[in-house]
Amino acid sequence: MEYRQCGKSGVLLPRLSLGLWHNFGDVDDYGNARDMLLTAFDQGICHFDLANNYGPSPGSAETTFGKILKQDLATHRDEMFISSKAAHRMWSGVYGDGGSRKNLIASCDQSLRRTGLDYFDVFYCHRYDGVTPVEESMQALVDLVHQGKALYVGISKFPYEEQMQAYDYLQKAHVPCLLSQYRCNIFDQKAKKMNIPLAANSGSGVICFSPLAQGLLTGKYSNGIPADSRAAKETGFLQKSEVTPECVEAARQLAAMAAERGQSLAEMALAWVLNDPDVTSLIIGTSSPRHILQNIKALENTEFSEEELSRIDEIVAGNE
Ligand SMILES: NC(=O)c1ccc[n+]([C@@H]2O[C@H](COP(=O)([O-])OP(=O)(O)OC[C@H]3O[C@@H](n4cnc5c(N)ncnc54)[C@H](OP(=O)(O)O)[C@@H]3O)[C@@H](O)[C@H]2O)c1
Repeated sequence: MEYRQCGKSGVLLPRLSLGLWHNFGDVDDYGNARDMLLTAFDQGICHFDLANNYGPSPGSAETTFGKILKQDLATHRDEMFISSKAAHRMWSGVYGDGGSRKNLIASCDQSLRRTGLDYFDVFYCHRYDGVTPVEESMQALVDLVHQGKALYVGISKFPYEEQMQAYDYLQKAHVPCLLSQYRCNIFDQKAKKMNIPLAANSGSGVICFSPLAQGLLTGKYSNGIPADSRAAKETGFLQKSEVTPECVEAARQLAAMAAERGQSLAEMALAWVLNDPDVTSLIIGTSSPRHILQNIKALENTEFSEEELSRIDEIVAGNE
């Protein structure tokens, strides 16, 4: 595994991190969840990304993670970098959602209990909720650090203006933003224009989620929707309606290009995100240990010629 310095901090992160958004809930197979986590750790993927609401049911991915940690990895805590987040809807009720101090502080306590951890390595405000002042959310994160419940803090999906405010507030509070999470993949390049450069220029590390567009950039939907895929599952976030003929065709053309590079489509799609020098790490998702072993091969070639990059953009534009 390759490790890269995270922004202007002293922390190194693996270039591939593992996210537990799907397939680690209490509706999922525990044995498979355990195999996926241990396979990742054995490969040097030591950063694990959680959130209060991951499941389903909400909270159960943290419970699963805590169980595996206790049973199999208890002596390895110091070799792991573990994140969690709050600010998306976790439970119905007035305090179960949003970036208020009330929710962020209570939610971090609940996440620590579910995982059995003493502290998170990084705790994020999962989103800007459009209502809570940025100062309130950021001060809550700063206080979590002062309370010893998080070593570092991060933000996720903040719009540009609020992103700037967050960095400024955290800098002045001497708790600089360690990590900024944005969606980035060949099909969704919006964050590359402003949010990612701003994060990198502000000294924050950048970690990109859904680098395979939830599986659309693997070619698995080339002959319809497989029964065991995320789009087929009732609990999956990827809707069947998002598997459009245009994106299937784009994936087909991209797969042909990947083959010319000696890569699978998934490998090329991951390599494409890693090719951005501002990107510290990617959070990959998985439903099988096999995916992890396949996807790690992306690290063998993350270089692209200008011609290849233009060709990728042409394929995407030609299938919108
Ligand atoms: N901050 C935020 O708001 C936010 C939002 C979303 C995600 N995240 C984080 O990012 C993580 C990753 O997101 P993601 O799961 O959408 O990532 P992704 O890497 O784009 O998609 C993962 C899915 O792609 C499929 N896949 C992966 N490798 C494959 C392979 N080699 N061959 C065939 N299919 C393969 C699997 O789907 P199947 O189930 O179909 O097999 C897998 O579950 C999450 O777990 C979470 O930690 C953060």
